[in-house]
Amino acid sequence: MKRIVCLISGRGSNLESILRTAESERWVTEVPARVVAVISNRADAAGLAIATAHGVPVTVIEHQRFASREAFDAALAETIEVHSPDALVLAGFMRVLSNAFVARFAGRLINIHPSLLPAFPGLATHRQALAAGVRVHGATVHFVANEVDGGAIIAQAAVAVLPGDTEESLAARVLQREHMLLPRCVRWLCEGRIALSDGRAVFRDVPNSALALLG
Ligand code: GRF
Repeated sequence: MKRIVCLISGRGSNLESILRTAESERWVTEVPARVVAVISNRADAAGLAIATAHGVPVTVIEHQRFASREAFDAALAETIEVHSPDALVLAGFMRVLSNAFVARFAGRLINIHPSLLPAFPGLATHRQALAAGVRVHGATVHFVANEVDGGAIIAQAAVAVLPGDTEESLAARVLQREHMLLPRCVRWLCEGRIALSDGRAVFRDVPNSALALLG
């Protein structure tokens, strides 16, 4: 049984998409894999209730209680290790992770970012996309590397940017695609179909058409 640990900071809609997909696709028997823990750096994260509703144990480790990023990351890593994860998923986890943390979980650690990387790393990606006037925007799932929102790209989903789009309308369109993209990448990782090799994502038995969701 592959063990999945998800890190969240807020709403938890990507977490919910993983949990729902795991249930509807019967990952426990079909992969086999299971989400064994959800960890939040914020006690008020709405995603905690989603995890609980799906029967997944939650832990809160508030980053403000630590004197440094390194101290928080060390406590976080220790809690994660208790669960021996095969896949560690940043599902809306809004903290930059230290190099030591990233190195420790390299190859098991993936993130979803709401832009077509390498365009628009960082925050307010939909505002950045609107300001740049791009006609295509989207979301990226990638292995985590030391640069913020850097690392080997696994899969991307594109959406059209429409005249009249607002940050909210664009965010909603991208989010819908995020919810398709992230669960399938988590499943591939658990199935050993994707791996990190020399800083690149490599694939085995993954349909090409599944790596780029267009339109
Ligand atoms: C998503 O847009 C995700 O791509 C980004 O943060 C947001 C989290 O939303 N990293 P949610 O908590 O999954 O609803």
